[in-house]
This record gives sequence, structure tokens and C-alpha cells, in this order.
Amino acid sequence: MVKKGLIVAFSMFALVSIGFASGDKSISEEELGLRKTSIHDESNVKPVEFSYSKDAPGTSKRIERAYMNAPPMIPHSVDGLLPITRENNQCLSCHMPEVAKSMGATPIPPSHFINFRPDTKMKDGKVIKEGKVVGEDIKNTSDIKLAKVKKLNGLYQGRFNCSQCHAPQANVKPLVENSFTPDFKDDKLKGKSNLVDVINEGVDIE
Ligand code: HEC
Ligand code: HEC
Repeated sequence: MVKKGLIVAFSMFALVSIGFASGDKSISEEELGLRKTSIHDESNVKPVEFSYSKDAPGTSKRIERAYMNAPPMIPHSVDGLLPITRENNQCLSCHMPEVAKSMGATPIPPSHFINFRPDTKMKDGKVIKEGKVVGEDIKNTSDIKLAKVKKLNGLYQGRFNCSQCHAPQANVKPLVENSFTPDFKDDKLKGKSNLVDVINEGVDIE
């Protein structure tokens, strides 16, 4: 009778040998890239056909958030809305909190009305935060701890370019599947954010 341990040892040997055998097979240049075509010649490369959502704002279906407090992706068409400039931002005409409800749109959240960056200056090797010297011989202002949160009267202009974080979505199949599954603390957060309430979670502010 063959002992169990021996069978395991033998199968492991077999697996290792198969591993080595397949390791010998070289990969051709056509197989190498995601395009599956020669990496030296682009003349026959055609981009995959795709289209963005054509549903007008008000007729599209919201997309589940990628993870808790992820920026929601834009479910509706952005035809005629881009590019966004500081002077001309049509997103605001439907998403500013005072109008959003009547438009059926999600209001821009409180986090976008706050400047989280510390008001910090460097002078003669000293770091001055909100008028006070908070450090000497500091090389880099990013070493300084978190800002005091300042609520602004209007949208924080560091956020004016909405599509920097919120992107319209196209109907393409990803070339590499993403197997990430998000974990939401609360099912409600699949469709809304609460970043401002939890912004200091796990942060030790002096
Ligand atoms: C004409 C009004 C209107 C304009 C302009 C508009 N939106 Fe919307 N937006 C909506 C509505 C309404 C929804 C909800 C989905 C729907 O009903 O189509 C929505 C949904 C969204 C969502 C998803 C929110 C969520 O809860 O998942 C994002 C993000 C968004 N819009 C961003 C933008 C950006 C960025 C712009 C500017 C490029 C913009 N929207 C311009 C009306 C508008
Ligand atoms: C720097 C990245 C960034 C920019 C720029 C930005 N957002 Fe967001 N947005 C986020 C993130 C992250 C969230 C989710 C967490 C939160 O509430 O801040 C969010 C959430 C939202 C939501 C969902 C609110 C909710 O209650 O669930 C809306 C609507 C939205 N943003 C609209 C906008 C619009 C309109 C602009 C342009 C004026 C904009 N955002 C600019 C990152 C950004």
C-alpha cells in the first residue's frame, strides 16, 4: 500500500515539473499587449467601439458607488456640458444644494464647500500656519498636520472641475476584469456619501 504522504509528495513533484515545462513556452509579441497585435506596428490598431450614456440628465439610472465615499460616476449624458471652466460650469445649475431637489439631482455634498488645505506659508525655513509659527527647519509643508476645517460660503474652487473626479461612463468591457468587491459599512452608503461626518475617523488631531 502506498502511503498518503508519498502520494502528496509525488503530486507536488508533478505540479512543479509541469510548472517548469510551461515556463519554457515563450510569449509572442502579438500576445504580449492587451491589444493582441504587434507591439511594433500600430497601422491596423482600431480602438474598440464604445459610446457614452445618451440618457439626458433626469432620465438616467444612478450607478452604485465603487466603494464607500467614492465619487459617484456620472450616469447621464454630458453632451454640451464639457469642458467645465471656472466661469462656465453647467453642472452647478442642477447640482447646487439649493436647486438639486427640484431638478431630481443629487446635491453637491458639504465636503465640496470646505477647504481642507491648511492655510500654511513657509518663510525663512519657518512654517507659518494661520498666522502662527508652527515649525522651524521644516523642509516640506506637507509634513504639517491636518487643517482646521473651514466652511466656505460657496463651492471650494479646488473642486470646480467636477469631471476630474466624476467621470461619464462608456459601455465597454474591461480588458482586465476587476475582482474588487467593496465593503459598505451601511447599505445606504451604496447610493450616498457621508464623508464629512467621518473625515477625521482614525486621524489624531493635535
Ligand atoms: C439638467 C440638470 C443636470 C445637469 C446640467 C447635470 N446633472 Fe448630473 N444629474 C442630474 C440628475 C437629475 C441626476 C440623477 C440621475 C438622473 O435622473 O439622470 C444626476 C446624477 C449625477 C451624478 C450621480 C449622482 C449619484 O447620486 O449617483 C453625478 C456624479 C452627476 N450627475 C454629475 C454631474 C456633472 C459632473 C455634471 C456637469 C458635467 C452634471 N452632473 C450636470 C442632473 C443634471
Ligand atoms: C477632487 C475630487 C472631486 C471633485 C473635483 C468633485 N468631486 Fe464630487 N465627490 C467627490 C467624492 C470623493 C465624493 C464622495 C465623498 C464626499 O461626499 O465628498 C463626491 C460626491 C459627490 C456627489 C454625491 C453626494 C452624495 O450625497 O452622495 C455629488 C452630487 C458630487 N460629488 C458632485 C460634484 C460636482 C457637481 C462637482 C463639480 C462642481 C464635484 N462633485 C467635484 C470628489 C470630487
